[in-house]
Amino acid sequence: MGGDGLFEKVMPVIPDRSKPPSRTSTAIDLVRETGDVTDLPACDSRFHYVPPWRVAALETLAEKVLPPVADLAARYSAAGRMEDLITADETATLMDACAFVRLRGARDGCTLAFGGLPPELTEYGRRERMTVRAALECVGWFDANQRHLTTVDIAPGRPAGAQPVDGALYGAELARRYDPARQVTERFNDVLRAFAKEFLGTRRVLELGAGTGRVGRNIAPFAGSYAGIEASHAMISAGRRYGLDVRHGDMMAMPFETGSFDAVVEHESIDFCTEPLLAATETERVLSLGGQFYRVELETAPAAGISRLQEEITARLAKLSGGVFPYWTKGQRRRVHQWLTGRGFAHRRIRLARWNETRSLRNWLQGLVNASYPSFSGVDEQTAESVCLELASAASMGDLDTTWDGEVGVVVHQYEAVDRCCSSHRPGRRLV
Ligand SMILES: C[S@@+](CC[C@H](N)C(=O)[O-])C[C@H]1O[C@@H](n2cnc3c(N)ncnc32)[C@H](O)[C@@H]1O
Repeated sequence: MGGDGLFEKVMPVIPDRSKPPSRTSTAIDLVRETGDVTDLPACDSRFHYVPPWRVAALETLAEKVLPPVADLAARYSAAGRMEDLITADETATLMDACAFVRLRGARDGCTLAFGGLPPELTEYGRRERMTVRAALECVGWFDANQRHLTTVDIAPGRPAGAQPVDGALYGAELARRYDPARQVTERFNDVLRAFAKEFLGTRRVLELGAGTGRVGRNIAPFAGSYAGIEASHAMISAGRRYGLDVRHGDMMAMPFETGSFDAVVEHESIDFCTEPLLAATETERVLSLGGQFYRVELETAPAAGISRLQEEITARLAKLSGGVFPYWTKGQRRRVHQWLTGRGFAHRRIRLARWNETRSLRNWLQGLVNASYPSFSGVDEQTAESVCLELASAASMGDLDTTWDGEVGVVVHQYEAVDRCCSSHRPGRRLV
């Protein structure tokens, strides 16, 4: 690291591989330690606000990273002889700056780059001092890449009324809409309770993105202990009546000791955070060896036509909300799955239950009818409902009280943090 306090606001970006990870390693450190995972599918998310880490990254870039690189470029492009050596401090500053833009601004801007320096610069990163020629090459690389951070449009305009507050998308208005919009049947609650009895009994359980406690209230009574983490104060207050121990915090940087849970559970939450892979790394860290990460998924298969209607409504609402499509996509699930299995977690898909349900169209369209997905926070309830009505009637599906049959299922993806059986099986060092 350069000794000039270049990265005061953020963590060092070039890992020192000679030292074991410390207990204070952040999630980003741990992601980085897994190496270059370039075969991970790109994040197909679109955010409708600037994620907090990006704001911080832009500030740091403008205030701390860019100026010394610009100085260096000005100094050497004018006067330096190409084979002269720049100083060790300048070399470190330049390398840090390159790793910074790579870590913070790769590809579409919401996919983090992994592994610090890009392959084409790693050779330079090994040298204490580099030549002016190499330095100018790095400056060119830096300049091209810092544009990912400054110009790639991942924030196509925040819809009116949406606030990137609270470290979460769920402000007071969405929290208010949330429970009425996401009604679950007693059957679903029963399935969760049965799951908790069978898989969580006596264990120290953590739930990610506990929201208003829909899942927590069913599983907590059967766990050895229960803690939740949730980024939105509004969601925590909305669920306060259940008396759950839900801590305000970020699942991408959890305030929990390494190895302090035997099971981590999530339902529709990891896909909603800014970078699910950071939450996955943190999950790995807080899980004890042999612990399990359970991703609970609700699978609905409504009558023919409803899925298409859902897609049409989603597209229309997204357009009204600023042209942004929901980011809680299957792409995220695949990324998390690949990351976890790549880390050596043993995966098992467990089908907990499947049953038939007759529901009103309003119920099949829940989350859309009153726009309770954060991606639609620029749309008011009345507009959302009238869009649903208009498109349902155009598709000859009746009004919102018309009932339709469909199938509902609950599936759990179990990822077990198996012991390391060989060096390649579990590449990361487990912190104890
Ligand atoms: C769709 S809701 C699901 C809530 C709950 N799991 C349920 O099934 O009702 C997603 C939740 O994840 C929370 N969330 C999003 N990003 C988060 C983060 N980085 N850390 C903690 N919680 C987060 C949101 O605030 C929201 O409450």
